Amino acid sequence: MSTSVKLAVIYYSSTGFSAEIAKEISEAAEKAGAEVRLLKAAELAPEAAVASNEAWAAHAAASAGVPVATPADVEWADAVIFGSPTRFGNISSQLKQFIDTLGGLWAQGKLANKVYSGFATSATAHGGQESTILALYNSIHHFGGLIVSPGYTDPVKFVDGNPYGTSHVDAQGNNPVGETTRNAARHQAERVVQVAAALKAGFAA
Ligand SMILES: Cc1cc2nc3c(=O)[nH]c(=O)nc-3n(C[C@H](O)[C@H](O)[C@H](O)COP(=O)(O)O)c2cc1C
Repeated sequence: MSTSVKLAVIYYSSTGFSAEIAKEISEAAEKAGAEVRLLKAAELAPEAAVASNEAWAAHAAASAGVPVATPADVEWADAVIFGSPTRFGNISSQLKQFIDTLGGLWAQGKLANKVYSGFATSATAHGGQESTILALYNSIHHFGGLIVSPGYTDPVKFVDGNPYGTSHVDAQGNNPVGETTRNAARHQAERVVQVAAALKAGFAA
């Protein structure tokens, strides 16, 4: 059995902000010693809808090479970090659809006892980042998963200020992912890997 933590980073992103955080988390987790799969939720929107939005179409093209997540990736993982743009205070339907494909694993108890964490992006400062992450965490309770939120466990968390998970305000597409968000993303990745490693060692003992 591999002793390194297997981490799946599974996100949905229309215009690239969530994708950028997913990438930062993946790189930090690899540096922390994890074996990482960076995966996107499949697009559900019609091609015409994607094509009608310049930023959405550009990101769809840029991320064409990112593998689409499958339930087997969740089964493989010791830890999963999910990410989504907020959609009216909730997770995107694309990520939710992926979560809804996990029923078979859930029925076999295969989603339980893994570490889970989440991140979100929004256009506006109080536009639903916390509610989006908490909505995601509702499902984790049903999995019997172990939620590892960042809390205020590092000085960087007093800068970005979201104890539920990394989050970013894109200001209607005008605010690129900067150091405050990247620091939070790296800390979340390192914490998830650290706790998942301890849990994995504990279960193996
Ligand atoms: C249907 C829809 C609903 C949205 N709802 C909200 C919202 O409630 N609050 C908010 O601040 N942004 C909202 N947004 C904006 C996105 O959450 C935001 O731009 C996000 O950062 C995009 O992330 P992405 O680049 O990963 O797709 C919404 C966008 C769409 C398309």
